[in-house]
Amino acid sequence: MKFAARFFAVLSFAAALAAPAADEMKAIPLPKPKTDGGMPLMQALAERKTSREFSAEKLPLQAMSDMLWAAAGINRPESGRRTSPTAKNCQEIDVYVAMAEGLFLYNPKKNELTPVLADDLRTLTGKQAFIKDAPVNLVFVADFAKMTNFQPSDKELYAATDTGYVSQNVYLYCAAAGLATVVRGYVDREPLAKAMKLRPEQRVILAQTVGYPKKAAAKPEEKHAAKP
Ligand SMILES: Cc1cc2nc3c(=O)[nH]c(=O)nc-3n(C[C@H](O)[C@H](O)[C@H](O)COP(=O)(O)O)c2cc1C
Repeated sequence: MKFAARFFAVLSFAAALAAPAADEMKAIPLPKPKTDGGMPLMQALAERKTSREFSAEKLPLQAMSDMLWAAAGINRPESGRRTSPTAKNCQEIDVYVAMAEGLFLYNPKKNELTPVLADDLRTLTGKQAFIKDAPVNLVFVADFAKMTNFQPSDKELYAATDTGYVSQNVYLYCAAAGLATVVRGYVDREPLAKAMKLRPEQRVILAQTVGYPKKAAAKPEEKHAAKP
């Protein structure tokens, strides 16, 4: 075997070891979301902002659960209604979660991340350099198949509006939890939808990057002070 062929064989073997097939992936159960306490709402509004510098540090499952519950979780179990409003309570916005481990779908009923694909699609969720640094990229996908009570011409308008609430809930959660986030419309939707294996009635509306803020490099005098 030539060197190049052997090299690629080793690489694909390593990749196969690292990434299980989609049907071998396990659902990730999320801890119960912490729905009390936290930063007061007015303070979270005062601190809400867009950030574009992320650390690669992974989010703990509790933060994932809290953030996804804020995004589109069930806050009234008796009716199944959500933390974010949707026109005619259509609940057409699905929150996909792109991480190094693969692509998952937030299932608010089971409070779990349901596996979709074993591939790391993070860089396909947008076109900006910081995306690859962050552990989590959310993709908000509208399922037009659920919008049966809407005029076809109204579907895009309501799907986009409903996504805005989900995104703002993520912004407020991130402000309260000290996380960095940016919602993104600068997305190549067709290749992303293809890579995510979406149905034709599913539309990528926006993406949103979430992670810890990148730590500022130590100032020269701090570096000096740290020396023995
Ligand atoms: C619908 C929408 C799409 C956006 N798309 C992008 C984007 O693709 N990339 C990006 O870096 N920021 C994006 N942003 C973030 C805005 O640039 C940001 O919200 C704006 O500059 C105001 O800053 P602030 O959120 O800190 O108030 C988007 C915001 C919205 C509401």
